[in-house]
Amino acid sequence: MHERIIILDFGSQYTQLIARRIRELNVYCEIHPWNKIPSITDNVKGIILSGSPFSVRDEQSPKPNLDAIKGKLPLLGICFGAQYLAHHFGGEVMPSNTREYGRAHLKYVDESCTLTKGMSTGSQVWMSHGDTIERIPEHYQIIASTEDVSIAGYHVEGEHTYAIQFHPEVYHSSEGKILLQNFVYTISGCSGDWTPNSFVEETTSKLREQLGEDKVILGLSGGVDSSVAAVLLHKAIGSNLHCIFVDNGLLRKNEFESVLESYKGIGLNVKGIDSSEKFYEALKNETDPERKRKAIGRVFVEVFDEESKKVEGAKWLGQGTIYPDVIESVSATGGPSQTIKSHHNVGGLPDYMKLQVVEPLRLLFKDEVRRIGKSLEIDQRILGRHPFPGPGLGIRILGEVTKEKVRILQEVDAIFIDSLKEDGLYDDVWQAGAIFLPIQSVGVMGDERTYENAVALRAVTSTDGMTADWCHLPYTFLAKVSNKIINQVKGINRVTYDISSKPPATIEWE
Ligand code: XMP
Repeated sequence: MHERIIILDFGSQYTQLIARRIRELNVYCEIHPWNKIPSITDNVKGIILSGSPFSVRDEQSPKPNLDAIKGKLPLLGICFGAQYLAHHFGGEVMPSNTREYGRAHLKYVDESCTLTKGMSTGSQVWMSHGDTIERIPEHYQIIASTEDVSIAGYHVEGEHTYAIQFHPEVYHSSEGKILLQNFVYTISGCSGDWTPNSFVEETTSKLREQLGEDKVILGLSGGVDSSVAAVLLHKAIGSNLHCIFVDNGLLRKNEFESVLESYKGIGLNVKGIDSSEKFYEALKNETDPERKRKAIGRVFVEVFDEESKKVEGAKWLGQGTIYPDVIESVSATGGPSQTIKSHHNVGGLPDYMKLQVVEPLRLLFKDEVRRIGKSLEIDQRILGRHPFPGPGLGIRILGEVTKEKVRILQEVDAIFIDSLKEDGLYDDVWQAGAIFLPIQSVGVMGDERTYENAVALRAVTSTDGMTADWCHLPYTFLAKVSNKIINQVKGINRVTYDISSKPPATIEWE
């Protein structure tokens, strides 16, 4: 079993980010609800207590029993975690008088402390808390202070217990990485055995053992997750992996052909099924976004089911589920919620298919999936692709979907995406696409009055799609793209650019 760091999650928005930062240091890290402390005999090297939306002074705030951990294993409290360790063991935590949100600078840092070694006075740290530690218990020593927060960090004498009120995991804490590195390597004694190559080797040999000579079916979507899952499975079981790639008629221009080609190039055993007409038929007269999604999902399952029946004796269904989909998160009201997000998972398959599920990426974050993909030498064109929703252009055509609208939108989208690539902007954007609006407007072309369709362009920056900002693309670029679209795509006489962020808007319009 890999050496591991465990984060006990008290519901902070930053918990996943802490785990990602630690994994970037090549140390495996898992998130557990605060009231489900795992056995420390499972090669657990250290424990981190996360932040929380709660105040330690709240009646209903989480109160973990740390007897099995504190003083026995390296422990790092961050924000709420730091306040809890101070409050619970005899210190004092109060609402803070001054604002403690955003950037601050270290006025004092203890260079002799193993946790803060290598950090410098004056370096920037990111604060985000409403409470502050007024007094620490006896035998606790201050290891860092800022102008407003004298107890920004402390160490418990005689133990490997440390705590900080700032957030080392966020980019704005300029030396946060040094601190996390000190904690996982020097204090917890990790060796850094979590690397893409080790993951690939271990996973393929585990898959071989688990699957033997069994056949596995996997639905490819053209996206990063399903592609990496397929290549890993292929490496393990070769042609016993049967991939199915469905053309729902709602993909980008030429996407079906080019993606199919690149899959075949990798050597995958893949069958492409053109079912466009079935999808268009099911979408006829449908204008409601959720009903459209359901119709697309239903037809996908039908097609997938029909195709998978052709793979005789298949026992397993491969899926590209990743770690953020399976982490049990702590709900804001306290207890850990058992709900596993099914958000946006394409093709939830019916029970009667009776296939066992195999999910080789279950433990990975998205950026790790890309790193693994790279070490598997998967084409950068697949790995670097923007996310694309399962229902595809079906939810980017507002109102009823028709073949003609799909054709027009594919042209518009292709001009936009190709231009982003040509101008070197594609990789700066998290997701981009075009939306077919349900309005027509007056225009003039040459001497003629036109009455044609309008489209919106959308490009956002984001890290996980949960929040997003509209992308500030250069005006000259937008002007060029708008001109190209109106000149080249018959049926469009107006182009708009969406300047809403999420929240309150969403990335997709439907
Ligand atoms: P929203 O619109 O919710 O989108 O801000 C967040 C991310 O999810 C994608 N998305 C979907 N993906 N099926 C999917 O597979 C869907 O029904 C769906 N709706 C939105 C969206 O493209 C963005 O990346």
